[in-house]
Order: sequence, then structure tokens, then C-alpha cells
Amino acid sequence: MEKIEIIQDDIAKVKADAIVNAANESLLGGGGVDGAIHRGAGPELLVECRTLNGCSTGDAKVTKAYNLGASWVIHTVGPVWTGGNKNEDELLRSCYQKCFQRASELGITSIAFPAISTGAYRFPLERATCIALEETIAALKKFLKIQKVIFVCFGKNAFEAYQKILTEKNPI
Ligand code: APR
Repeated sequence: MEKIEIIQDDIAKVKADAIVNAANESLLGGGGVDGAIHRGAGPELLVECRTLNGCSTGDAKVTKAYNLGASWVIHTVGPVWTGGNKNEDELLRSCYQKCFQRASELGITSIAFPAISTGAYRFPLERATCIALEETIAALKKFLKIQKVIFVCFGKNAFEAYQKILTEKNPI
């Protein structure tokens, strides 16, 4: 699956048409990916985010990317892991589906994702990685204009998890 790339980097440094932010429902910034993206984009990002009136868990909203190496930021809100009995898997799937839907609407050809929900929101890494890759493989069959999906991992664990699970799902 040459359209999928797995890298270890700070997502705020990645160049792509769109960068996905692992936000919270307020869309008013935070730590982790959210903090890095807001720092990289500059203060105008927050000004635009304030006009969006937040974002529900599992949904995705788009802003410009300002000083980032991208044209768009797609803000999505992943589920907080509370044991797996509160629809967490379906909500995380929805994050990827909505991000690809927004990307397709914008005519985006390359999109960079962080490991949504696997940090502060404590979603188990391998379980989240399976969902991310399954939804990406499905989206690449549906949205033919998307030529490159970059998974930006912030550490060795995530990097190795994505590589292992991608090989399992796409042995070629
Ligand atoms: N680039 C790429 N990946 C990163 C970066 C970065 N700069 N910083 C953190 N990560 C990784 C984390 O190691 C984790 O694997 O991104 C994954 C998601 O972690 P979080 O950023 O904590 O996101 P999430 O778990 O979805 O929690 C969202 O955290 O920052 C707040 O405002 C945000 O309330 C929201 C919550």
C-alpha cells in the first residue's frame, strides 16, 4: 500500500495538504498534538477556531493552517478511553471517516494523521492503530483523489505499532 507512509516526527513540522489535529470539543487548544499545531500555526488558528463553536467527539471541522506547512488543519475530537463500553471504537472510526470526508470535499491529495486518542485520551495504541489503518484502507478505495496518507508517530512504540499492523493488514 504505497499510498500509506509511516514516519516518526512532530506533526507540526510535516508538509501535507492537510494536517489532522487531535483536538478537544472546545477547539480552543490544549497539549500534545493540539498544542504543537497551535504553536506551529500561530495565534490566527485560535481566532478561526473560536468561530467554529466547538466540535463533537467523532466529528471533524476544517480551518486554514496559517504558518504550518499545510493548506488546511482538520480538527477532529477522538473519544476518551473509558474501558471500551462507551462506543469508543465507533467514535474513533468516525474521526477517521469524517477527516477523509472533509479531505475529499476540499480536494486534498495528501493528509497527515497523528495517533488520535492514544495520548491524553488513553485509547489503547494497538487497538487505535488497527482502527486507523482499517479506516484508511477503506477510504483510499473510496476517495481516489487522496494519493498519500502519512501517519506521524511521536515515539518508537507508535511507529512500530503502525508498521506491524500495516504489514498484517497489507502483507504485500
Ligand atoms: N506530533 C505527533 N504526534 C504527537 C505530538 C506531535 N507534536 N505530540 C503528541 N503526539 C502523539 C502522542 O504521543 C499520542 O500518541 O499523538 C498522540 C495523541 O496524543 P494527544 O495529543 O494527547 O491527543 P489525544 O490522546 O487525542 O488527546 C486529546 O489532549 O492535547 C489535548 O486538547 C487536546 O484535550 C485534547 C486531548
